[in-house]
Amino acid sequence: MNKNDIIEILLKDPDEDKIFAEADLTRKKIFGEEVHLRGLIEFSNICARNCHYCGLRKDNPFVKRYRMSKEEIISSCKQAWEMGLKSVVLQSGEDGYFTARVMEEIISSIKSLTGLAITLSIGEMPRADYFRLKEAGADRFFMRFETSDPALFSRYKPDSSYIRRFDCLRWMKEAGFQVGSGIMVGLPGQDIQSLARDIMLFRELDLDMIGIGPFIAHPDTPLAGKNKNNLKAALKVLAVTRILCPKAHMPAASAMEALSPMGRESALKAGANVIMPNITPEKYRKEYILYPGKIALSQSPIETVQKAREFIKSIGRKESLDYGHALRMKDETKSA
Ligand code: 5AD
Ligand code: SF4
Repeated sequence: MNKNDIIEILLKDPDEDKIFAEADLTRKKIFGEEVHLRGLIEFSNICARNCHYCGLRKDNPFVKRYRMSKEEIISSCKQAWEMGLKSVVLQSGEDGYFTARVMEEIISSIKSLTGLAITLSIGEMPRADYFRLKEAGADRFFMRFETSDPALFSRYKPDSSYIRRFDCLRWMKEAGFQVGSGIMVGLPGQDIQSLARDIMLFRELDLDMIGIGPFIAHPDTPLAGKNKNNLKAALKVLAVTRILCPKAHMPAASAMEALSPMGRESALKAGANVIMPNITPEKYRKEYILYPGKIALSQSPIETVQKAREFIKSIGRKESLDYGHALRMKDETKSA
């Protein structure tokens, strides 16, 4: 049997509680009870692409588009730092306004004003841009490959190239980033073999961060109505991934919580060790809708962070006080 077969068996095994428990134990061995908080700032919902699953796709006319100013982004970061967060994730659609030059300015300002570790989640760029952004001080780059199945990828991401997406992930690594990627679970047409190959690919890519979330059909997209509840399936993929990639940082995706009030807790008990409270200013939050059911639409950044902290305590875990860098870097870097 090869690894692929093993993964397939695990994913098919009806006794998921056993797999969740093993993943939980693996998480505990590597990370103990510590949960990392990363503040998520969704700084632009403008996107040049037309992914079939995503509410922010260019051709969705119902989205009220926004772009946070440089000052707003920096002030959100300062607030994050003042609240005691050690790291932020700057996420946006593929918005041509935020060129490498603009991002460099933002990144260096954040670095000069705070001690935050910065993760970028801004999509595909030319190779040289990843190097520039790393040079400017960003620490990590996150970009899901979404599915390892090339046919599904081109069906649902018609204006991206599968090959190029993996080139980008390689370039991020070459530029010196801590690199994260991930998938959606439950895309129409995705089967267990395909998910098993996704997990194999996580290992091959040797990722520092892995994000796994359920697909949720958005009514204003070509995949409208293609819904099933993908929560259990996503939790299972998360758990098997934790067992196979013990050292990766893995967030409890907010899409899990969108499907059930227990979603995040279940994820943290099935291998996840990271939570990403949304600290986007409230006035923009409801315009950044990738999928319906998004949580914390009207809470302030202070509230989302406080709720995350209470939640971590309530399940007997504790907030990590360090940066949550990739484990392979632990000895190299004591601060951002
Ligand atoms: N359901 C779940 N996740 C989605 N994403 C985009 N659209 C959806 C959806 N309908 C995820 C993709 C993307 C990330 C930013 O959000 O995986 O990489
Ligand atoms: Fe744009 Fe990302 Fe949505 Fe695709 S998934 S449409 S690239 S924001």
